[in-house]
Amino acid sequence: MASNQLHTQDQAQEKLAETADINGTDPEYAKQLAGNSDKTKSPFYNADISAKLTAKTRKFLEEYSGIPPAEVVSHIHSVRDKAWAIRAYPCIGNGIYLDPVLPKHPTYQKVLSRIRDEGATLLEIGSFMGGDLRSLVADGAPTNHLIATDVVRFWDLGSEMFNDKERFNCRFVQADMMDAQGPLQEFNHSVDIVHVSKVLHQWDWESQAKACGRLVQLSRHNTMIVGDQMGGVTAHELLPYPGLPGMWMHDEGSWRKLWEEVSVLTNTKWEAETWVRSIEDMGWERSEYGWLREDANVLMFVVTRVE
Ligand SMILES: C[S@@+](CC[C@H](N)C(=O)[O-])C[C@H]1O[C@@H](n2cnc3c(N)ncnc32)[C@H](O)[C@@H]1O
Repeated sequence: MASNQLHTQDQAQEKLAETADINGTDPEYAKQLAGNSDKTKSPFYNADISAKLTAKTRKFLEEYSGIPPAEVVSHIHSVRDKAWAIRAYPCIGNGIYLDPVLPKHPTYQKVLSRIRDEGATLLEIGSFMGGDLRSLVADGAPTNHLIATDVVRFWDLGSEMFNDKERFNCRFVQADMMDAQGPLQEFNHSVDIVHVSKVLHQWDWESQAKACGRLVQLSRHNTMIVGDQMGGVTAHELLPYPGLPGMWMHDEGSWRKLWEEVSVLTNTKWEAETWVRSIEDMGWERSEYGWLREDANVLMFVVTRVE
């Protein structure tokens, strides 16, 4: 690629990133409704999340983490409550993270092979407690090819959850993905795979475009951005609660349109592939998603940089 083209791409990406709002990532709606004085009254908090514990995760906690079988259920609840105290995300209250989604992603084998066999680096945005990253490592990815990042520090709770503080050496960087001047600058133009799961849907269209512009800054030729988020049978802006910012729920067409826009704004070219899963396909309870529209579903995606 010609160096003057690289220069214009840099300028376009910087311009988009400069306008990104670094605030607004705390789920205000969850805090307002979380019943700070009584979390059990929150619509996002399920007192008993043991049904979300899959046989695979239980086995992992018993065999890898060494949690005695009789203590696994109390262990997951105690860690979940500590995570909820940090930030009241619905997926925390409902224990959705107990069944990592990345291994079910249609690109999982390709992601794994690029890291394990070709030496690619994966950076995760919104790594939370690191469940997806531990799945990759269990399947053979070396930890020194993985970087975990999150705007808040759930990372230490991950060590408690998986009881592997001395054994799991994946690097963690606390950073707001929207902050173009922040710690993630170190990774600009160097990441081969970005994993971003259940993060982008917190924003409206404009902020998602800016967030994707930040992901573009991390990328280089052939970078894959892999992930999932809540969507809808038809795209719409969800206004979760009066006065709070909208959340753009994509369908496959609107996701492609967003990336066409991001491509133009950043002077890069991306190819998008998408897959739709129902809430039932994911093994989740529709009743836990009453705050979304009735046609809510899950959009899985990969966008690959071709220029
Ligand atoms: C709903 S949770 C999903 C966690 C995990 N990716 C999963 O799928 O289980 C969203 C995560 O994104 C993080 N997050 C939200 N806004 C962020 C931002 N601006 N920069 C980096 N991380 C962010 C949150 O702290 C949280 O860990």
